[in-house]
Amino acid sequence: MLKSSWLKALLLVLLLPAVARADEGMWLPLFVKRLNHADMQKKGLKLTAEEIYDVNNSSLKDAIVQLGGFCTGEFVSKEGLLLTNHHCGYDAIQSHSTPQKNLLSDGFYATTKTDELKNPGLFVDILVRMEDVTGKVLEGITPQTPEAERAQLVQKRQQEMANAAKENGQYVAYVRDMFAGNEYYLFVYQRFGDVRLVGAPPESVGKFGGDTDNWMWPRHTGDFSLFRVYASKDNKPTAGYQEGNIPYMPKKHLPVSLQGVNEGDFSMVFGFPGRTQRFLPAAGLQLTLDESNPARIKLRDTRLKIWKADGDQDPNVRLKYASKYANIANYWKYFIGQNEGMKRLKTVDQKTAEERALMQWIAADQARGQQYGSVLNDINQAYAGMRQYNLSSVYMNEAALGTEILAFAARLRPLHNLLKSESPDQAAIKKATDDLKEPTEELFKDYNAATDKKVFAALMQLYYTDVPKNQQPEIFQTVAKQYGGSMQKYADEVFSKSFLTSKAKTDQFLQKPTLPQLENDPAFKMINSLFTNYQQNIAPKMQAAQAGLVRANRLYVAAIREKNSQKVYSPDANSTIRLSYGSVRSYEGRDAVKYSFFTTAQGILEKEDPTNPEFVVPKKQIELLKAKDYGRFADKDGTLHTAFITDNDITGGNSGSPVINGRGELIGLAFDGNWEAMTGDLAYDPELKRCINADIRYVLWCIEKLGGAKHLVDEMTVVNNGPNPGVSNTAQMVPTSLDGKATKVKIKTKKKKGEPAPASL
Ligand code: ARG
Repeated sequence: MLKSSWLKALLLVLLLPAVARADEGMWLPLFVKRLNHADMQKKGLKLTAEEIYDVNNSSLKDAIVQLGGFCTGEFVSKEGLLLTNHHCGYDAIQSHSTPQKNLLSDGFYATTKTDELKNPGLFVDILVRMEDVTGKVLEGITPQTPEAERAQLVQKRQQEMANAAKENGQYVAYVRDMFAGNEYYLFVYQRFGDVRLVGAPPESVGKFGGDTDNWMWPRHTGDFSLFRVYASKDNKPTAGYQEGNIPYMPKKHLPVSLQGVNEGDFSMVFGFPGRTQRFLPAAGLQLTLDESNPARIKLRDTRLKIWKADGDQDPNVRLKYASKYANIANYWKYFIGQNEGMKRLKTVDQKTAEERALMQWIAADQARGQQYGSVLNDINQAYAGMRQYNLSSVYMNEAALGTEILAFAARLRPLHNLLKSESPDQAAIKKATDDLKEPTEELFKDYNAATDKKVFAALMQLYYTDVPKNQQPEIFQTVAKQYGGSMQKYADEVFSKSFLTSKAKTDQFLQKPTLPQLENDPAFKMINSLFTNYQQNIAPKMQAAQAGLVRANRLYVAAIREKNSQKVYSPDANSTIRLSYGSVRSYEGRDAVKYSFFTTAQGILEKEDPTNPEFVVPKKQIELLKAKDYGRFADKDGTLHTAFITDNDITGGNSGSPVINGRGELIGLAFDGNWEAMTGDLAYDPELKRCINADIRYVLWCIEKLGGAKHLVDEMTVVNNGPNPGVSNTAQMVPTSLDGKATKVKIKTKKKKGEPAPASL
């Protein structure tokens, strides 16, 4: 009996086709047909693989963009209207705000296209195609090829392939490695540099719950904003804003569904996840847990407290630091959650056990032993070496470059090198100063020297006390001798004498830069000393420690995949386009705590607290919600759903990604992960990890009812009108193609009452 069921199980495993399972995985859309489609259909997908990814015909991928290199957005109209998160548009929204006309606090909707606001520097990338170029990149390379030669060859080939794919600047292209250098892929994009702000709710909606609710479920945040992509008259990208540009006509835009979701419904998230490290060895996890994360948390906490105190004193400062604060606070809390989670879930122990099993598997076979035998040793040795210099690295990034004046001064180092030369290259100097104009504008637009001085004193003091003395820069000796080791006193000197505290003085310097002026500037002196120390004393040792790590990591990942050959792995996120699929799914956060899969507007009223800036609710919103004025955006249960969760595998960079139902319609915007699964970027836990999404009906309610911008909703292709019929669909689902012909897309909107959800759990 036991035996036969064991046999059956074995047979089943052997007969199973090599398709990936839903839960874990950020999949390359290129392989959706081969790896995922069958499983996706089982879960409720109605689209064909070609409707998701196709290079020759319009497909879902054409509706997805990478926004500014750090977020995701999706087209929701044939005129280039783009939805993304509020926290993705935050910087742009703040940049158009003043205390008198505060778009952050009041919200904003362009009434006509002429009111849409330009955002210099902001761009979107749209994928043209991707290609597996592993064979070409690794051609002729064998396990015997010396590592340095391999690295050089690989880099050269990557560069050449990317250059060829750019077709004389028509496209943006790059080759990215996957699985730690075991595979390589070419990505070709169109880059549109004219992206205008169209609308955003007030911050009290778009960031409702603030840092208290951040990274947590249940959530009631209307985390969305609207942009529009502009193109030339022939629908081609332009490098920046151009007069005469017209709204871009995407090959495809997503229809928006008012139908809502049920537990178990299919969901797909398409976007640009930034970085995961699921193949990080136990030694790397350990270092993160007991050194890097605590240091990051401490340094960020210090900085945030200063920014907060100064912001509370002066609304001008608060506005200037709003976006910087949000960014630093976001990952401050992330590191806290990641460490808590690693302890609770025993992530290091788990990885250690996996590595033990891996070593046993390697040792069991002679050929394997030869190929992989030293892998773990090499890795552990590398980490032991890196550990000695790790704090210096973290403090360079989080303390030195966490101080605005020092981060800016660091950007003057190329200019410094040019000025130092015996026969200075005037043309290069001119170019270097020109290149500094934009960063100068950017810094001083939102700079408060008095605040930064406090940050400088506090963070540099921590650098001075926490980093091993023999790894510290020379200038710290000056501080010790001449300022009694007080960074506060040294800060007085820096901030009273440096020209980098004032825009006028910086501009003046950049007009006629001289070597003595730069070298005598105390802020520059400080960063120069920090960098010189790092380059001379830290980096070479780090590099020596890491020398064998690239190879060891590559073999480690190869061995893991070979050992578990029945499992299909998806490559770690690396800011390339990915698709993840799963279903709407509640979860048990901890013993006896079960979370429902959706939240409603009732929760906004419950959380409302006029005395706490994070939980203020606009008056108009309270009135509308109390009157239950939900219109056609209400759920069939009569409430207004604000957010829902799915088990899609996502990470930072996915922010703003569309959540798409089985028919290819937009049902939500992914905007966060949950607290119980903050280790998700390092290790995936299918029972706990959830993707938090704004319900698209709440988004539309905010635009139309709260924001009075019905014209923007009307521009979208709204389908499946909710349980309050009588409001006609504004448009039919007609994806536009470049040549103006409608493209064929199947949408079955019929779902019989009582029909079970497509996938049962
Ligand atoms: N945790 C969210 C993400 O990384 C960002 C939320 C922004 N909100 C905030 N309160 N900082 O995508």
